[in-house]
Amino acid sequence: MKDIYVIGSMSVDLVTQAKRLPKKGETILGESFFMTNGGKGANQAVSAARLGANVRMVGCVGDDSFAEMIVNNLKENKVNVDYVEPITHCASGTAHITLADHDNSIIVVPSANGKVSEALVDKVMENISDESIILLQNEIPKSVIEYIIEKSFEKGITTIYNPAPYIEIDKNLLSKVSYFTPNETEVKDMFGEGFETLIAEFPNQMIVTLGDKGATYYDESLINIPSIKAKVVDTTGAGDTFNGALAVALSEDMALSEALQFANRAASISVGGLGAQGGMPYRKDME
Ligand code: RIB
Repeated sequence: MKDIYVIGSMSVDLVTQAKRLPKKGETILGESFFMTNGGKGANQAVSAARLGANVRMVGCVGDDSFAEMIVNNLKENKVNVDYVEPITHCASGTAHITLADHDNSIIVVPSANGKVSEALVDKVMENISDESIILLQNEIPKSVIEYIIEKSFEKGITTIYNPAPYIEIDKNLLSKVSYFTPNETEVKDMFGEGFETLIAEFPNQMIVTLGDKGATYYDESLINIPSIKAKVVDTTGAGDTFNGALAVALSEDMALSEALQFANRAASISVGGLGAQGGMPYRKDME
């Protein structure tokens, strides 16, 4: 099995549940509050590790108590933290989440996640085997994302780029990633309306996740891999579960269609638990 390196964000999620979102300028009463582990990078690392992969997390935490919470959680989930760097005089990343109307709204404050540097990526690139898989998202600096894509391409390393949340990057770089996995909103932000025709330009490379409608890619024709019906408690982290599971499936040399069925299954299970990592399945749950 190939090693999986997740280069990305680690955060503490501060989650409020409310009956509805407040309107602009309005204060409303919430129903509950909890703190839990999150950050798209850490979520994807935990997803892959729970499904049995060897996972290394690469990124930055602050020097506060949240850093301890983040690192302990990664270790508990058997994610290697040798490339997690603490930044002094810096807060750890946080995400401020409101759950309402069976959906979520999120504001991410990058803090230490904004300190991930090319120097840290170089350390990884010195030691990484070309057989590994790199998983990356958009919650670290854009210049570093572009650097990771270039360096991985030069080394011939398989990359899965989850362009979430949307930021504008040079489209020419997409030809240098092995797979990219926008959701419906992100694909519109990247290319405008109508991905169904454009997706043919990225055969077996662009995978559009469609929530409860599954995932779509192009291989001589448009192929949809349907999702599995699930009871929804919280959709936060479902996309991260999908990406972590996709990396695991590809690390085990599954064909793309089989890998997407595996990833869909994991994501469907994940929405049954509260918090980004609360419902993420272990390998035994996938049988
Ligand atoms: O994808 C879900 C994640 O997005 C949350 O855990 C939160 O940290 C935000 O980054």
